[in-house]
Amino acid sequence: MKNLKAIIFDAYGTLFDVNSAAEKCKSKIGDRWENFANYWRTTQLEYTWLRSMMGKHKNFWQITEDSLDKSMKKFKIHNDMRNELLNLYKILSPYPETKEALKKLKNKNYKIAILSNGTPSLLNELVEKNDMKNLFDDIFSIEEVGIFKPSSKVYEIPVTKYKIDKGEIAFLSSNTWDISGGGNFGYNCFWVNRNNDVFDNLDYSLKYELKNLNELLDII
Ligand code: LAC
Repeated sequence: MKNLKAIIFDAYGTLFDVNSAAEKCKSKIGDRWENFANYWRTTQLEYTWLRSMMGKHKNFWQITEDSLDKSMKKFKIHNDMRNELLNLYKILSPYPETKEALKKLKNKNYKIAILSNGTPSLLNELVEKNDMKNLFDDIFSIEEVGIFKPSSKVYEIPVTKYKIDKGEIAFLSSNTWDISGGGNFGYNCFWVNRNNDVFDNLDYSLKYELKNLNELLDII
């Protein structure tokens, strides 16, 4: 691709496996661990959208706690597990190909950054615990604009920081709604579709679909 200057990644669900916290507790939670993990994730995202619409911002960590509390109640999971699940959420595992793909990109001349709903301290801890700090030029958090994705204020952050055009950015996310948000904003979007999912109907026609992060290297 011509004119590409920055490659920007969503964090949760794209670089880091959001289900890995509950998966690590599957011996205690039992077979329903995956349904529980999906419910927690869906509730967490709904809370980001609802709070943005209500103009009642709370940071992503507080929302992660609030959505966990609802999910534990729903699945009747004992409160003893709360701290364990939250601590595991701080050190989510990256997807298997994440580090390798980022290392290969690092050898090219692009700015490499994260643009995420996470707080700066949460994202820094996640990247440091997984020994990935040196793979990114920048970690951009929505906290600097005080509203969650898919607000265009969020997608504007790297454009302003790097003083580049929207069309000079490649944006990768596994979240369909994040691709629709970034795509409608004007990014070149790459949907990372690991689970053979179906794309959204939100006025953005998808141009690039990847099975995993390694496939990006074949396109750019
Ligand atoms: C993020 C959420 C959307 O990292 O996964 O911004």
